[in-house]
Amino acid sequence: MSTDAIVLLRDDHKEIRRLFREFSRANAGARATQQQLAGKIIEALTVHTYIENETMYPEVRRLLPDLEDDVLESYEEHHVADVLVMELAAMSPEDERFRAKMTVLQENVMHHMDEEEQDWLPKVRAGLNRKQLVELGQRMLEQKKTAPRSPAQPSALKKTIDAVLD
Ligand SMILES: [Fe+2]
Ligand SMILES: [Fe+2]
Repeated sequence: MSTDAIVLLRDDHKEIRRLFREFSRANAGARATQQQLAGKIIEALTVHTYIENETMYPEVRRLLPDLEDDVLESYEEHHVADVLVMELAAMSPEDERFRAKMTVLQENVMHHMDEEEQDWLPKVRAGLNRKQLVELGQRMLEQKKTAPRSPAQPSALKKTIDAVLD
């Protein structure tokens, strides 16, 4: 299994896209399915933004200072997603705003992942060597084991609160 940081993050994106597609296909009446898929999406996003916020973004910012503006924009986009994810985690598919909020989350996350893949990650690939990318990938793989899986966990809340207070 490759631990190249870029491959790892792209694989996460692929899985997140797949889950969103499944959610959009779920019949509006199939509430249990919607609830289950929303739970999976929330978990995948919580883990993914955590490893990016904790490892990928700060390390890229340190190693490639020219990419600082991209990193700062990404933190803000994560913050918007965090707020939506926190609200969704407290809602159920019976709520009339549930599907609309999921749609807005999907639009935001798709835009963010597209930008990372088309613009940011190629710059990171060009700026870092193979050894640095593998080392970053290994760190993030390791971090996934202890990453928060729900936005209500203290370590996940901390980053949201930090983002608001900073
Ligand atoms: Fe991101
Ligand atoms: Fe990402």
